[in-house]
Amino acid sequence: MVVVRTVEALKEARESLRGSIGFVPTMGALHHGHLSLMRQAREETDTLIVSIFVNPTQFLEGEDLESYPRREEADRKICELAGVDILFMPTIDQMYESDELAIGAPAIKGYILEGEKRPGHFDGMLQVVMKLLNLSGATRAYFGKKDAQQLVLIEQMVKNYFMDVKIIACEIVREESGLALSSRNAYMTPQEHQRAHALSRALKCASKSIMAGEREVAQLKAQMLTVLEETDRVEYVAIVDRAFRPLEQVEIGNTIILVAAWVGKPRLIDNIWV
Ligand code: PAF
Repeated sequence: MVVVRTVEALKEARESLRGSIGFVPTMGALHHGHLSLMRQAREETDTLIVSIFVNPTQFLEGEDLESYPRREEADRKICELAGVDILFMPTIDQMYESDELAIGAPAIKGYILEGEKRPGHFDGMLQVVMKLLNLSGATRAYFGKKDAQQLVLIEQMVKNYFMDVKIIACEIVREESGLALSSRNAYMTPQEHQRAHALSRALKCASKSIMAGEREVAQLKAQMLTVLEETDRVEYVAIVDRAFRPLEQVEIGNTIILVAAWVGKPRLIDNIWV
Protein backbone atom coordinates (compact mmCIF):
# COMPACT_ATOMS: atom_id res chain seq x y z
CA MET A 1 0.00 0.00 0.00
CA VAL A 2 1.28 3.43 -0.91
CA VAL A 3 0.34 6.29 1.43
CA VAL A 4 0.24 9.69 -0.24
CA ARG A 5 -0.44 13.04 1.37
CA THR A 6 -0.24 15.46 -1.51
CA VAL A 7 -2.17 15.92 -4.73
CA GLU A 8 1.10 15.69 -6.69
CA ALA A 9 2.02 12.37 -5.06
CA LEU A 10 -1.43 10.98 -5.75
CA LYS A 11 -1.18 11.96 -9.42
CA GLU A 12 2.25 10.35 -9.60
CA ALA A 13 1.01 7.14 -7.95
CA ARG A 14 -1.86 6.99 -10.43
CA GLU A 15 0.39 7.36 -13.50
CA SER A 16 1.36 3.70 -13.70
CA LEU A 17 -2.16 2.38 -13.06
CA ARG A 18 -3.93 0.29 -15.66
CA GLY A 19 -7.53 -0.95 -15.64
CA SER A 20 -10.44 0.09 -13.47
CA ILE A 21 -10.13 2.17 -10.31
CA GLY A 22 -12.40 1.61 -7.31
CA PHE A 23 -12.57 4.52 -4.90
CA VAL A 24 -13.86 4.69 -1.32
CA PRO A 25 -13.84 8.22 0.17
CA THR A 26 -13.97 8.34 3.98
CA MET A 27 -13.40 10.68 6.90
CA GLY A 28 -11.49 7.97 8.78
CA ALA A 29 -12.33 6.29 12.10
CA LEU A 30 -12.89 3.29 9.90
CA HIS A 31 -15.36 0.57 10.91
CA HIS A 32 -16.92 -2.52 9.35
CA GLY A 33 -19.21 -0.32 7.24
CA HIS A 34 -16.17 1.19 5.50
CA LEU A 35 -14.57 -2.24 5.28
CA SER A 36 -17.54 -3.63 3.41
CA LEU A 37 -17.28 -0.78 0.87
CA MET A 38 -13.56 -1.54 0.46
CA ARG A 39 -14.21 -5.27 0.08
CA GLN A 40 -16.77 -4.70 -2.64
CA ALA A 41 -14.50 -2.23 -4.44
CA ARG A 42 -11.56 -4.66 -4.13
CA GLU A 43 -13.62 -7.43 -5.75
CA GLU A 44 -14.99 -5.30 -8.56
CA THR A 45 -12.02 -3.19 -9.65
CA ASP A 46 -8.30 -3.53 -10.47
CA THR A 47 -6.97 -0.80 -8.17
CA LEU A 48 -8.42 0.31 -4.85
CA ILE A 49 -7.92 3.90 -3.71
CA VAL A 50 -9.19 5.05 -0.31
CA SER A 51 -9.13 8.61 0.98
CA ILE A 52 -9.18 9.73 4.59
CA PHE A 53 -9.97 13.41 4.92
CA VAL A 54 -12.06 15.11 7.60
CA ASN A 55 -13.54 17.70 5.30
CA PRO A 56 -14.01 21.05 7.08
CA THR A 57 -16.45 22.51 4.54
CA GLN A 58 -19.17 19.97 5.37
CA PHE A 59 -19.16 20.75 9.09
CA LEU A 60 -21.29 23.61 10.35
CA GLU A 61 -20.23 26.14 12.97
CA GLY A 62 -20.44 24.41 16.37
CA GLU A 63 -20.42 20.87 14.95
CA ASP A 64 -17.86 18.20 15.86
CA LEU A 65 -15.08 19.09 13.36
CA GLU A 66 -12.43 19.43 16.09
CA SER A 67 -13.50 16.38 18.06
CA TYR A 68 -14.35 14.14 15.07
CA PRO A 69 -12.57 10.84 15.83
CA ARG A 70 -9.13 10.68 14.20
CA ARG A 71 -7.32 7.32 14.32
CA GLU A 72 -4.63 7.52 11.68
CA GLU A 73 -2.52 4.54 12.75
CA ALA A 74 -5.45 2.15 13.21
CA ASP A 75 -7.01 3.34 9.94
CA ARG A 76 -3.77 2.72 8.03
CA LYS A 77 -3.63 -0.84 9.34
CA ILE A 78 -7.26 -1.47 8.40
CA CYS A 79 -6.60 -0.19 4.86
CA GLU A 80 -3.50 -2.36 4.58
CA LEU A 81 -5.49 -5.46 5.64
CA ALA A 82 -8.32 -4.55 3.24
CA GLY A 83 -5.89 -4.65 0.33
CA VAL A 84 -5.93 -0.92 -0.43
CA ASP A 85 -3.40 0.03 -3.12
CA ILE A 86 -3.29 3.78 -2.56
CA LEU A 87 -4.28 5.56 0.65
CA PHE A 88 -4.74 9.31 0.14
CA MET A 89 -4.56 11.35 3.36
CA PRO A 90 -4.30 15.00 2.33
CA THR A 91 -4.03 18.04 4.56
CA ILE A 92 -6.61 20.83 4.30
CA ASP A 93 -4.29 23.11 2.32
CA GLN A 94 -3.73 20.37 -0.26
CA MET A 95 -7.49 20.28 -0.85
CA TYR A 96 -8.56 23.93 -0.58
CA GLU A 97 -7.51 27.42 -1.61
CA SER A 98 -8.71 30.49 0.27
CA ASP A 99 -11.02 31.75 -2.49
CA GLU A 100 -12.73 28.72 -3.96
CA LEU A 101 -15.29 28.06 -6.62
CA ALA A 102 -18.27 26.71 -4.73
CA ILE A 103 -20.68 23.92 -5.58
CA GLY A 104 -24.27 24.29 -4.43
CA ALA A 105 -26.51 21.39 -3.53
CA PRO A 106 -29.86 21.40 -5.37
CA ALA A 107 -32.24 23.97 -3.86
CA ILE A 108 -34.90 21.48 -2.72
CA LYS A 109 -33.28 18.08 -2.33
CA GLY A 110 -30.18 19.60 -0.78
CA TYR A 111 -32.05 21.67 1.82
CA ILE A 112 -34.62 19.30 3.28
CA LEU A 113 -34.12 16.77 6.11
CA GLU A 114 -30.33 16.61 6.70
CA GLY A 115 -29.95 19.70 4.54
CA GLU A 116 -32.50 21.62 6.60
CA LYS A 117 -30.98 20.60 9.91
CA ARG A 118 -27.44 21.18 8.62
CA PRO A 119 -27.76 24.00 6.03
CA GLY A 120 -24.68 24.12 3.82
CA HIS A 121 -23.53 20.64 4.82
CA PHE A 122 -24.30 19.15 1.41
CA ASP A 123 -22.62 22.04 -0.45
CA GLY A 124 -19.35 21.22 1.32
CA MET A 125 -19.86 17.49 0.96
CA LEU A 126 -20.45 17.75 -2.81
CA GLN A 127 -17.49 20.10 -3.18
CA VAL A 128 -15.07 17.63 -1.60
CA VAL A 129 -16.57 14.59 -3.32
CA MET A 130 -16.20 16.32 -6.70
CA LYS A 131 -12.53 17.04 -5.89
CA LEU A 132 -11.89 13.50 -4.64
CA LEU A 133 -13.58 11.84 -7.60
CA ASN A 134 -11.52 13.96 -9.99
CA LEU A 135 -8.29 13.30 -8.12
CA SER A 136 -8.82 9.56 -7.78
CA GLY A 137 -9.78 9.09 -11.43
CA ALA A 138 -12.28 6.54 -10.14
CA THR A 139 -14.23 4.38 -12.55
CA ARG A 140 -16.44 3.20 -9.70
CA ALA A 141 -16.96 5.02 -6.38
CA TYR A 142 -18.59 3.32 -3.39
CA PHE A 143 -20.96 5.01 -0.94
CA GLY A 144 -23.10 3.57 1.85
CA LYS A 145 -26.88 3.80 1.80
CA LYS A 146 -26.78 4.94 5.43
CA ASP A 147 -26.18 8.48 4.21
CA ALA A 148 -29.08 8.13 1.80
CA GLN A 149 -29.51 11.81 1.01
CA GLN A 150 -25.76 12.21 0.46
CA LEU A 151 -25.82 9.25 -1.90
CA VAL A 152 -28.75 10.58 -3.94
CA LEU A 153 -27.13 14.04 -4.18
CA ILE A 154 -23.80 12.56 -5.33
CA GLU A 155 -25.65 10.55 -7.98
CA GLN A 156 -27.31 13.77 -9.11
CA MET A 157 -24.00 15.68 -9.20
CA VAL A 158 -22.42 12.96 -11.33
CA LYS A 159 -25.42 13.11 -13.68
CA ASN A 160 -25.67 16.92 -13.82
CA TYR A 161 -21.93 17.44 -14.40
CA PHE A 162 -21.64 14.50 -16.86
CA MET A 163 -18.94 12.94 -14.71
CA ASP A 164 -17.47 9.70 -15.94
CA VAL A 165 -17.76 7.59 -12.80
CA LYS A 166 -20.25 4.96 -11.67
CA ILE A 167 -21.65 5.50 -8.20
CA ILE A 168 -22.20 2.22 -6.37
CA ALA A 169 -24.78 2.24 -3.56
CA CYS A 170 -23.81 -0.23 -0.83
CA GLU A 171 -25.99 -1.79 1.86
CA ILE A 172 -25.95 -0.47 5.44
CA VAL A 173 -23.82 -2.54 7.81
CA ARG A 174 -25.41 -3.08 11.22
CA GLU A 175 -24.45 -4.50 14.59
CA GLU A 176 -26.24 -7.75 15.48
CA SER A 177 -28.65 -5.61 17.51
CA GLY A 178 -29.59 -3.67 14.38
CA LEU A 179 -27.76 -0.41 15.18
CA ALA A 180 -26.26 1.01 11.98
CA LEU A 181 -22.47 1.37 12.20
CA SER A 182 -21.20 4.95 12.38
CA SER A 183 -17.95 6.58 13.46
CA ARG A 184 -20.07 8.74 15.79
CA ASN A 185 -21.32 5.65 17.72
CA ALA A 186 -18.00 5.93 19.56
CA TYR A 187 -19.34 9.03 21.37
CA MET A 188 -22.04 7.02 23.20
CA THR A 189 -21.93 5.47 26.66
CA PRO A 190 -23.02 1.79 26.88
CA GLN A 191 -26.46 2.90 28.15
CA GLU A 192 -26.90 5.38 25.29
CA HIS A 193 -25.72 2.74 22.87
CA GLN A 194 -28.55 0.54 24.16
CA ARG A 195 -31.14 3.30 23.67
CA ALA A 196 -29.79 4.03 20.18
CA HIS A 197 -31.25 0.72 19.03
CA ALA A 198 -34.59 2.55 18.96
CA LEU A 199 -33.69 3.94 15.51
CA SER A 200 -33.35 0.57 13.82
CA ARG A 201 -36.28 -0.82 15.82
CA ALA A 202 -38.50 2.02 14.57
CA LEU A 203 -37.47 1.24 11.00
CA LYS A 204 -38.08 -2.47 11.52
CA CYS A 205 -41.51 -1.68 12.97
CA ALA A 206 -42.37 0.36 9.83
CA SER A 207 -41.08 -2.41 7.60
CA LYS A 208 -43.22 -5.02 9.41
CA SER A 209 -46.32 -2.83 9.08
CA ILE A 210 -45.65 -2.38 5.38
CA MET A 211 -45.29 -6.13 4.97
CA ALA A 212 -48.62 -6.50 6.74
CA GLY A 213 -50.20 -4.16 4.15
CA GLU A 214 -49.96 -0.68 5.72
CA ARG A 215 -49.23 2.04 3.13
CA GLU A 216 -50.33 5.25 4.93
CA VAL A 217 -47.28 7.39 5.65
CA ALA A 218 -49.01 9.20 8.55
CA GLN A 219 -49.77 5.87 10.27
CA LEU A 220 -46.26 4.55 9.78
CA LYS A 221 -44.70 7.75 11.12
CA ALA A 222 -46.90 7.64 14.23
CA GLN A 223 -45.85 4.05 14.94
CA MET A 224 -42.19 4.94 14.49
CA LEU A 225 -42.41 7.95 16.79
CA THR A 226 -43.70 5.73 19.60
CA VAL A 227 -40.64 3.49 19.32
CA LEU A 228 -38.37 6.54 19.08
CA GLU A 229 -39.51 7.84 22.47
CA GLU A 230 -36.48 6.01 23.89
CA THR A 231 -34.14 8.49 22.16
CA ASP A 232 -33.42 11.92 23.66
CA ARG A 233 -34.92 13.90 20.78
CA VAL A 234 -36.24 13.00 17.37
CA GLU A 235 -35.24 15.44 14.65
CA TYR A 236 -37.23 13.91 11.85
CA VAL A 237 -38.99 10.83 10.59
CA ALA A 238 -39.50 11.04 6.84
CA ILE A 239 -40.92 8.81 4.17
CA VAL A 240 -39.86 9.92 0.70
CA ASP A 241 -39.44 8.51 -2.77
CA ARG A 242 -35.99 7.75 -4.20
CA ALA A 243 -35.75 11.33 -5.48
CA PHE A 244 -36.47 12.59 -1.95
CA ARG A 245 -40.01 13.83 -2.70
CA PRO A 246 -42.34 13.37 0.29
CA LEU A 247 -44.91 10.58 -0.08
CA GLU A 248 -48.36 10.13 1.41
CA GLN A 249 -48.51 6.46 0.48
CA VAL A 250 -45.58 4.06 0.46
CA GLU A 251 -44.61 2.99 -3.06
CA ILE A 252 -42.95 -0.41 -2.88
CA GLY A 253 -39.61 -0.31 -4.71
CA ASN A 254 -39.48 3.50 -4.65
CA THR A 255 -39.49 4.49 -0.97
CA ILE A 256 -36.89 5.47 1.61
CA ILE A 257 -37.83 5.70 5.29
CA LEU A 258 -35.44 7.91 7.24
CA VAL A 259 -34.91 8.86 10.83
CA ALA A 260 -32.61 11.28 12.65
CA ALA A 261 -32.47 11.44 16.45
CA TRP A 262 -30.18 12.47 19.28
CA VAL A 263 -28.97 9.89 21.78
CA GLY A 264 -26.53 11.41 24.26
CA LYS A 265 -23.84 13.37 22.45
CA PRO A 266 -24.28 12.15 18.87
CA ARG A 267 -27.04 12.82 16.41
CA LEU A 268 -27.73 9.51 14.70
CA ILE A 269 -29.31 8.78 11.33
CA ASP A 270 -30.62 5.57 9.83
CA ASN A 271 -32.91 4.48 7.01
CA ILE A 272 -34.36 1.59 5.06
CA TRP A 273 -35.15 1.35 1.35
CA VAL A 274 -38.45 -0.40 0.62
O1 PAF B 1 -19.70 10.06 4.14
C1 PAF B 1 -18.59 10.58 4.42
O2 PAF B 1 -17.77 10.03 5.16
C2 PAF B 1 -18.25 11.94 3.85
O3 PAF B 1 -19.39 12.72 3.70
C3 PAF B 1 -17.48 11.86 2.51
C4 PAF B 1 -18.32 11.22 1.44
C5 PAF B 1 -16.20 11.07 2.72
C6 PAF B 1 -17.11 13.27 2.06
O4 PAF B 1 -16.33 13.94 2.98
